[in-house]
Amino acid sequence: MAEHPAYPVGLRLTGRRVVVLGGGQVAQRRLPALIAAGAGIILVSPEVTPSVQAMADAGEITWHQRAYEEGDLADAWYALIATGDTEANTRASAEAERNRVWCVRSDDADEATAWTPATGHSEGVTVAVLTTDARGRDPRHTAAIRDAVVEGLRDGTLVAPHHRTRTPGVALVGGGPGDPDLITVRGRRLLAEADVVIADRLGPRDLLAELPPHVEVIDAAKIPYGRYMAQEAINNALIEHAKQGKSVVRLKGGDPYVFGRGMEEVQALAEVGIPCTVVPGISSSISVPSAAGIPVTHRGVAHEFTVVSGHVAPDDERSLVDWPSLARLTGTLVILMGVDKIGKIAETLVAHGKPADTPVALVQEGTTAAQRRVDATLATVAETVRAEDVKPPAVIVIGEVVEVGPTAGALRK
Ligand SMILES: C[S@@+](CC[C@H](N)C(=O)[O-])C[C@H]1O[C@@H](n2cnc3c(N)ncnc32)[C@H](O)[C@@H]1O
Repeated sequence: MAEHPAYPVGLRLTGRRVVVLGGGQVAQRRLPALIAAGAGIILVSPEVTPSVQAMADAGEITWHQRAYEEGDLADAWYALIATGDTEANTRASAEAERNRVWCVRSDDADEATAWTPATGHSEGVTVAVLTTDARGRDPRHTAAIRDAVVEGLRDGTLVAPHHRTRTPGVALVGGGPGDPDLITVRGRRLLAEADVVIADRLGPRDLLAELPPHVEVIDAAKIPYGRYMAQEAINNALIEHAKQGKSVVRLKGGDPYVFGRGMEEVQALAEVGIPCTVVPGISSSISVPSAAGIPVTHRGVAHEFTVVSGHVAPDDERSLVDWPSLARLTGTLVILMGVDKIGKIAETLVAHGKPADTPVALVQEGTTAAQRRVDATLATVAETVRAEDVKPPAVIVIGEVVEVGPTAGALRK
């Protein structure tokens, strides 16, 4: 028979029976996409890998622990034949052919009636790459093309304008700690599609320079109003632009809901009926210590970490933090917005029982080119901050984890 190109199609498998024969590496690789497609998966195999077992235990697939038997494919819409037994695979693909069930065969693409393309996802589309015919099949080449397309769409080197009308509204995007590479893929995509971006002082400001000239960038720190009016002014700016039918991105540092007033903005938008998407971000509370070589937890050292705002001093009546309780914890304390008040904070922790020689690290402008780390103890931190001129933004880490480094495990033995 002359070789014709394969006909590409997207199978809508939700609730439809898909039979997978064999529970080895091939099944392990293919099952997640079938599960994601909502298929009703029956897996037939005497043995499975631990990952496949976990999918069965989680109820994502139904596992029949036995070898393939004639009739297994009778009611299937689609089949994946991947047992280690070529003879069983041949019998199963003959059954699939008789029942007109499209089937992929891992050991013999020529005998299969369907091929799995190399797939990837970007911007709400699935990219699927197939070679034209069996002779030209080269899975590495198709995977490389898939990677090139998906990467290109993600980093903007492949431009694919949207022609459908975009939904106007606001996206509250957590931009991560500052390094432009540490924003999420979704955040970056929404940024690339925005008409208006309202950005904070913290976060990946370098990304703003990459925006096309028609995008209006508003610096939230410069919105003219008194200090206490600033949030209301930002809310109003979000509402005003969204009401004009624009796609508005509110770009925030770290995660929008970690000391970011994100929910206040969501509430203000909800009050006037404007849709708002929230995109989580990598919070500085974990990523900045991490970038400076400090794990917030470490086996045998810290079983908890507590993230605290230090923007008001412990003796300030507005403080909602129970500092005496924090002094009793044995885990890691991570303090944001605490540079100005660190002297009072350290004093309070020591007064309530935290050892004065507890290690402290201050990481200023973490993940940016200007990152620097200054180490001290609770006893010395106030003086160190003055002497070293540590300035906000900085994350302060208090606890034994500060001294855990790449070689500490070896030293501790
Ligand atoms: C208003 S809070 C916002 C926190 C943010 N939502 C998050 O999840 O990271 C600002 C504080 O976060 C910390 N911070 C944010 N980015 C930082 C960075 N790149 N380096 C050091 N500290 C940072 C500082 O303590 C700063 O004062």
